[in-house]
Parts: sequence; structure tokens; C-alpha cells
Amino acid sequence: MSKNMIVSPSLLSADFGNLAKDIDMINRSDAELLHLDVMDGVFVPNISFGFPVIKHVQRLCQKPLDVHLMIVEPQKFIPQVRDCGTRIMTVHQEACIHLNRVVQQIHDAGMLAGVALNPATPVMMLRDIICDVDLVLLMSVNPGFGGQKFIVQTLNKVRELRQLITLNGSNAQIEIDGGVNAVTGAQLAEAGADILVAGSYVFGAEDPIKTIEGLKNL
Ligand code: DX5
Ligand code: ZN
Repeated sequence: MSKNMIVSPSLLSADFGNLAKDIDMINRSDAELLHLDVMDGVFVPNISFGFPVIKHVQRLCQKPLDVHLMIVEPQKFIPQVRDCGTRIMTVHQEACIHLNRVVQQIHDAGMLAGVALNPATPVMMLRDIICDVDLVLLMSVNPGFGGQKFIVQTLNKVRELRQLITLNGSNAQIEIDGGVNAVTGAQLAEAGADILVAGSYVFGAEDPIKTIEGLKNL
């Protein structure tokens, strides 16, 4: 049964030579969010785009921005992320020694706070912060690149995270990032995910708007 998934297309797979065209497609689609992947070449073995690009995107995009920072010391950039008009700022648990403080700082800056976990990081790492976060992003591929194969163990992590959230009365939403398509999306919906990030599946599709609609109605 459809629970109406929230879809957050990842701009990483868009046409960087013509972002305005792809953002116009997002505006016309049923996507609730736009996912933006910031990489630093240190936390992940790749570099994507930075704040000047996100600011430009924000001017064109009518959907709230869902910014996923794959960088070390993300707390240094909270003001810049906020100044891009970001709705959700997600940092990696593995990149934050003082995660509790970073989450507080994101809230103080007026944004929703997300925490991301790499595939090898157990859900239990979030036990003592689950009530303070608005979103948990589970990486279902190793971060850094689009178009990789979905790691099936993520399904167990989604179930475990759902339990942790329920048990603690947390309002955190579960977002999944990497290798999402109609097949893995349906499995994730069943396991209890709320938000699906999809890059190559959406932007590589013949009809991206229909593809987004399909993910929403899984
Ligand atoms: C990967 C990024 C993802 C990426 C997903 O490190 O965090 O958001 O764009 O790409 P797909 O959907 O192609 O796996
Ligand atoms: Zn991402």
C-alpha cells in the first residue's frame, strides 16, 4: 500500500551544463525537496559543488533545499548553509566529534537538523541523540558518487532505526540515499523509510517527472 513517500531528487546527477532546465523540471514535478550533495575530497573521495552554486540553485528552485554535507568539520559552514536558504542541513555522524553541539547549532541557525550514517556505521550510534534530530539519513551506498548499487543491509537498518525512533518517541524522519530505484524504493517503503533520495534514477530517466511520481506512489 502506498504511504506517499517524500522524494528528494539529487542534483548530483543533473546536467551541470544546464542546471536551470533540470531545476525547472523539479519545480514542475511532485518532488517535495531538492537534495544537494556537498563533497570536500577529504571526507569522501570526490568533490562536487559548493555554496555559490547552491545559492544560484536556490534562486531558481521552488522546493525546499535538503543539503547533505559530506565534509569534515561541517559545523564551520553552518552560516553559509543557512544563507543558501537551506531547509534541512544534514551532517555525517562520522564527521562530528561533538554531534550534539552541531545539531544544536543547526537548530539555532533556524534549520532542521539531519544526521547521516555511512553504510558501516550502526544505527545505535544515534541512540542518545535520536530525540534531538529531525532526520536521519542512512547511506545505502558508500558516499561520494552517484549511480552505485544499493547495499541490501540498509533494509535491516531502516527497520532498526524505525524501532529506535518509535521506542524513544522521536519525530525523526528516515531518509535513504544511494541506489534508489523503483525496486529498492518499494523495499524501502515497506521497511519504513519516509524520504527517498534519487539521483541517477531520476535524472537518467526518459521521463523524470513520471519517475518522481512513481517513487512517490510506491
Ligand atoms: C552519494 C550522494 C547521493 C547520490 C545518489 O554520495 O550522497 O545523494 O546523488 O545517487 P544515486 O541515486 O544515483 O545512487
Ligand atoms: Zn546525498
